Amino acid sequence: MQTVSVFSAIARRLEGKVALITGGASGIGEYTAKLFTENGAKVMIADIQDDLGQSVCKDLGPSMASYIHCDVTNEAHVQNAVDSTMAQHGKLDIMFNNAGIVDILNPNILDVTQSDFEEVVKVNLVGPFLGTKHAARVMIPAQQGSIITTASICSIIGGIGTHAYTSSKHGVLGLTRNTAVELGKYGIRVNCVSPHLVPTPLTRKANVDDETISKVNSSLKGAWCRKEDVANAALFLASDASKFITGHNLIVDGGFTIMNQGFCMFE
Ligand SMILES: NC(=O)c1ccc[n+]([C@@H]2O[C@H](COP(=O)([O-])OP(=O)(O)OC[C@H]3O[C@@H](n4cnc5c(N)ncnc54)[C@H](O)[C@@H]3O)[C@@H](O)[C@H]2O)c1
Repeated sequence: MQTVSVFSAIARRLEGKVALITGGASGIGEYTAKLFTENGAKVMIADIQDDLGQSVCKDLGPSMASYIHCDVTNEAHVQNAVDSTMAQHGKLDIMFNNAGIVDILNPNILDVTQSDFEEVVKVNLVGPFLGTKHAARVMIPAQQGSIITTASICSIIGGIGTHAYTSSKHGVLGLTRNTAVELGKYGIRVNCVSPHLVPTPLTRKANVDDETISKVNSSLKGAWCRKEDVANAALFLASDASKFITGHNLIVDGGFTIMNQGFCMFE
């Protein structure tokens, strides 16, 4: 009997927890919502794609998932998403700042407009700032919580994303580290997860086809990053299994960023 209960605790790692997931209508966020509910969490999906978000919630089951319209660049929307989660579930254990966009691949800084740059920074950096701020507002009185942001390998290296995207993801890492230091005294952990390329609508919008993604380098034989790899990393950071981990950038890239791509002594 003892063994069974230990295994079921492992199988459902978020039992009784409540999570708010921005950008949960599609891609990594959608998959993570599925994984979180399978692990026992109640999930609130916050997105701007209302039909898609509602249909994801329908699939997950109305008792497990609900949808709220939320533009992460609008503070009133983010505040409302957090308050609605509190009103519905009485608490917020996990904030997953995952919504993100990419601008058109343009390697030439002279062609990048200020408005294009600001749009990406607004969604990818100001969005997680607002999500972290309003999650902290309700997590501080509870003296607990896990805040996770989807960064990218562009948070630690240059040359593989646009100027705006790379800047926004470096910024998110700074936000994660700074808020982890401040919020630790309330028992709140703040981390980010940094995937390599994952085939999603975002990569397709950036004209990166799935075949190209399947050929990207990693030090793991035949492996390339999939939504489930990122969702599993987020699950770990959301769960009590990572209770002593904060301010961390969990890189999910099969070893891509630890290698010097220009010179390697191994075949
Ligand atoms: N796919 C990749 O290769 C990859 C790699 C590294 C990091 N990421 C990051 O992963 C996250 C998820 O991206 P994805 O690949 O699943 O893309 P996706 O396009 O499938 O999902 C992004 C979601 O964010 C939502 N969104 C966009 N702007 C929003 C806004 N203003 N307010 C609320 N929601 C908004 C979209 O509607 C969409 O549902 C992003 O932060 C992205 O930067 C993706």
